[in-house]
Amino acid sequence: MKRWIVAITGASGSSYGRRLIQVILENFNDIGLDIITSDAALRVIREEEGLKISSGSRTLAALIPELQTTITIDSRFTWHSCEDIGATIASGSVQVEGMVICPCSMNTLAAIAHGISANLIQRAADVTIKEGRHLILVPRETPLSPIHLENMLRLARLGAVIAPAMPGFYHRPGSLAELIDMQVMKILDQMGLQTNLASRWKQQ
Ligand SMILES: Cc1cc2nc3c(=O)[nH]c(=O)nc-3n(C[C@H](O)[C@H](O)[C@H](O)COP(=O)(O)O)c2cc1C
Repeated sequence: MKRWIVAITGASGSSYGRRLIQVILENFNDIGLDIITSDAALRVIREEEGLKISSGSRTLAALIPELQTTITIDSRFTWHSCEDIGATIASGSVQVEGMVICPCSMNTLAAIAHGISANLIQRAADVTIKEGRHLILVPRETPLSPIHLENMLRLARLGAVIAPAMPGFYHRPGSLAELIDMQVMKILDQMGLQTNLASRWKQQ
């Protein structure tokens, strides 16, 4: 079974990250996920989505209440504490396909761009870069300062995919869910996971 790391940090748009996890678990039986959430992410999830997750209740049902309970996924999902710098995924010897940080705060982006590994998200990203694996970042901030832009350029030059949470409107979304799904489909495309969550562009 292939594994991906999915981290959610404290940028606005935690719903993108939660939906990404849901879609992978519901649609790709051969993919396992290692999840990490920063403390700030849990705060944003509470503020933006009204979901209260205490750090002691790291269960799939708590993170993705929308998930269909009929799916057996326990073995495909591990939720690590962000403080656990001894977790398996802190080592390059553990094989994973890559890592997605969705959404990615400017704080975490800056740390990764400068080789800082102060928590498990940053360490796993550092390992992903040093091992030459896929690193997909979904930053969210506006406006962007020169510091933010320089950090993104630095990471793009190292091979990271910078896929900002910048929803398009050409598929004419009729709901927030459709807007989110377009962004999630773009991330899945970068992971090499084919879905048709949103309609792709067709010239009229
Ligand atoms: C409701 C809320 C929304 C936030 N939105 C953003 C954002 O869009 N982008 C960002 O870089 N930081 C945002 N922040 C600030 C980050 O959460 C903060 O910098 C935090 O230290 C990031 O920590 P982390 O990188 O460990 O997740 C937001 C904070 C809150 C409470």
